[in-house]
Amino acid sequence: MNEHAKPLTLSERADELEEHMMHELGERIATKSTLFNIADGKVEMPNGPALKAANPDKYFLMGADPRLPKMPAKPTLIDYFHNRFASLNHLLQSATHALKGGHSEKVVLACLLHDIGVASFIRADHGYWGAQMIEPYVDEEVSWAVRTHQALRFFPDPSVGYEYPEMYIKYFGADYKPEPYIVREYELARNHKYYMTSRLICVNDIYSFDPNAKVDLNDFVDIIGRNFRQPEEGLGFDDSPSAHMWRTLMWPTRFL
Ligand SMILES: [Fe+2]
Ligand SMILES: [Fe+2]
Repeated sequence: MNEHAKPLTLSERADELEEHMMHELGERIATKSTLFNIADGKVEMPNGPALKAANPDKYFLMGADPRLPKMPAKPTLIDYFHNRFASLNHLLQSATHALKGGHSEKVVLACLLHDIGVASFIRADHGYWGAQMIEPYVDEEVSWAVRTHQALRFFPDPSVGYEYPEMYIKYFGADYKPEPYIVREYELARNHKYYMTSRLICVNDIYSFDPNAKVDLNDFVDIIGRNFRQPEEGLGFDDSPSAHMWRTLMWPTRFL
């Protein structure tokens, strides 16, 4: 912006905000939450009254965003996989690897779900986010393993041939040290009864995308059916402690 320009009037400011933080969808206005703007380096959120003043004939979006794939009335985990997870290959490759390795269904499911935090919500602390999303629907061994892989990833375990990932040196630099909360999590996990389940996520965590690998979500439908308690009302409408997380994923641009 030209620094010598006149200060913006209130209505110009509202127009600028509008362009920045919302999308017009016919009669509705879809707004961006603070987090979306923070990710662009700006601590900002839409000013509701200003947006409404600039669009007196429009209402804010309070439901489905028509730009996103349509979700059924009673969504299942599979529907989220297809319509809200940005990438499936990594999850499917890890789970396929675990399946071929003859691991238990809990381990396979943990591998299939271990990075849904990244695939759907946010990279930062993705193990914690993902675990919280699935906690009401899976055995505690599975959600514990998903939460804890966040920390175990950074620590080798020669007993199962797990080394510190080369890729992390490339990604984070040779001198990166996990923060104290990650070190604490790892130390607590080492003697936990589910340690090996989480460790097996790390062992099966496949980072190199193999274009020839044949992976298919259908291979896991039965394991999901037996190990993920799909709520009858639909994932997001069942009043569980994490239902709101699934709803947010379904309707991310609702005004409230
Ligand atoms: Fe991960
Ligand atoms: Fe992963």
